[in-house]
Amino acid sequence: MNLLDIVRREPTPEPWAEGEKIPWNEPGFSARMLAEHLTQEHDAASRRTERIEQHVRWIHGQVLQGRPSRVLDLGCGPGLYTQRLAALGHSCVGIDFGPASIAYARQQAAASQADCTYVEGDIRAIDYGPAESFDLAMLIYGELNVFRRAEALTILQKTRQSLKPGGRLLLEPHTFQAVQEEGQRPSTWYTSETGLFSERPHLTLYEAFWHADQAATTHRYYIVDAEMGAAARYAFSMHAYTEEDYRQLLADAGFSNTVFYPSLLGEPDPSQSGLLAIVAQP
Ligand SMILES: C[S@@+](CC[C@H](N)C(=O)[O-])C[C@H]1O[C@@H](n2cnc3c(N)ncnc32)[C@H](O)[C@@H]1O
Repeated sequence: MNLLDIVRREPTPEPWAEGEKIPWNEPGFSARMLAEHLTQEHDAASRRTERIEQHVRWIHGQVLQGRPSRVLDLGCGPGLYTQRLAALGHSCVGIDFGPASIAYARQQAAASQADCTYVEGDIRAIDYGPAESFDLAMLIYGELNVFRRAEALTILQKTRQSLKPGGRLLLEPHTFQAVQEEGQRPSTWYTSETGLFSERPHLTLYEAFWHADQAATTHRYYIVDAEMGAAARYAFSMHAYTEEDYRQLLADAGFSNTVFYPSLLGEPDPSQSGLLAIVAQP
């Protein structure tokens, strides 16, 4: 891809047509992303430690009622939640397709002898293990919205099968308004010596699109290598759901007793107002 391809780009890309996701599972990207998960300077890939510890206290006390439980964390990243849940007496399995994140999570679990197992795999396709084996399955930090609705439904159906009777699903998706506002952001560009998409000096061109008819936002990035002039395109889309849509999606996947919370703290969190928490049961 070169500059001419950028000039002649699709003016309004269809949701998911130009890419499924940012390349979490590409080894170089995954290694650079690991540093973003772990930094205490921002909350972009994972939240900072203080907030994660508050979330874990709410999950342990309110969602799990303090009972030692088997926990499945889908899209677990470097295991920042599972390690802390294990320290509170839970037994955890984390699945993620980022190789650097999974390697880090395994290393941390071995060092602290935490009761955590990590599996490198794509949660759309991988087996979640024997049926009815978890008390809690979680998919947090907005990742549900990044899947097409049909894929989100598959993930939720697989999750339902993996939960024990009386078990709980914990989701932390985006509000409809947050996804819509992201799609209405102005285009922007910036230069970097090194960054998430490339370790070489590059120019990033960013565009967002809101597709009201499909209730979806598409984010598109062109990364132009400053020395070579070669360009690469990355795109991902996010589905916007109203609370009613979430209720319907969960009902379609076989969940009921759906309860909404303003955040993973159980109370409004002004720093995370674009996310909500949902607990449901098979
Ligand atoms: C925003 S991060 C959140 C990580 C972690 N849950 C946290 O809050 O610290 C999203 C994670 O989902 C993972 N992910 C995204 N799509 C995935 C897929 N299809 N299969 C497995 N993991 C996926 C990414 O690799 C990334 O680690």
